Amino acid sequence: MKIGVLTGGGDCPGLNAVIRAIVRKGMDVYGHSFVGFRDGWRGPMENATVPLGIDAVRGILPRGGTILGSSRTNPYKSDDGVARIRDTLAGLGVDALIAIGGEDTLGVAARLHAEGIPVVGVPKTIDNDLSATDYTFGFDTAVNIAMEAIDRLHTTAESHHRVLIVEVMGRHAGWIALHSGMAAGANVILIPERPFDIDKVCAFVEHRFASHYAPIIVVAEGAAPVAGSLVVKEGELDAFGHVRLQGIASVLETEIRGRTGRESRATVLGHVQRGGTPTAFDRWLATRFGLHAVDAVHEGASGTMMALHGTRIEQVPLAEATRELKLVPEELYAEAEVFFG
Ligand code: F6P
Repeated sequence: MKIGVLTGGGDCPGLNAVIRAIVRKGMDVYGHSFVGFRDGWRGPMENATVPLGIDAVRGILPRGGTILGSSRTNPYKSDDGVARIRDTLAGLGVDALIAIGGEDTLGVAARLHAEGIPVVGVPKTIDNDLSATDYTFGFDTAVNIAMEAIDRLHTTAESHHRVLIVEVMGRHAGWIALHSGMAAGANVILIPERPFDIDKVCAFVEHRFASHYAPIIVVAEGAAPVAGSLVVKEGELDAFGHVRLQGIASVLETEIRGRTGRESRATVLGHVQRGGTPTAFDRWLATRFGLHAVDAVHEGASGTMMALHGTRIEQVPLAEATRELKLVPEELYAEAEVFFG
């Protein structure tokens, strides 16, 4: 078989480990050949390819980013997007695609499968918000980066008796905020699933100062105040209709300073969370997803996505995998709340 591979959406540590495992098993065990498509769905739409053999994947296991490049290109945004993909695959003699991505990239993969294009999906996102898999790779690395940053902010917050607010990624789901905040002992964790009350946040801040410590607030970028209580600016939209977020930490900085008179500073971790070398867990998970994805293509299991269930990698239907986001449940947030204030 000839198999096309692409990485779409926001990059994350572990993408290269998946690509390496796909190519190593696909060539060494099955004798398949590969072509890489550049920059997500842009590659097959524009016939933008990169050679993908054993040499290309040597040494890439620990490297962050993706050797294939990525983008948020949406083929369904252009009238002839799908037709162009079909033409490219036919022209190159590609029998099947492996799409490595999050909800958007895999949503496109599910639609292409429904239209008869053979495609298998591998879930990736630092947000860990795909419902069909226990974990996505990239998440553990992002959480560790955020945890280390929060550890560091604790010491400078104490020195200056300041409120330090750390904004982490997480547009719809607060997994990074929850895990890193709990791991690093945050005093308040604010997530998109639970609109926050600014008065309560300020009360936690005062309580923390009263116990002679400086408060650290971890806020997911998608967290929002209870409707109508504060004004937060909306950003521009990307090709999948998502608002580009950034700014909730600075809103909190101003509000907390204004309401409590305490010196406050915001830190936005941003894309630092997506960069650099993956953790051991993410390399392990990414490698296993790659091995199982090439098995799935070999078996002709188009329309499936690899999923981690416990310690097993299983195939789930792509359509089901992208139907709903995995959000932080009440009971997990309640565990974190024990440490607020
Ligand atoms: O989906 C992954 C993610 O990192 C989100 O957490 C974040 O909201 C978004 O991507 C940022 O996207 P971009 O890299 O396009 O700014």
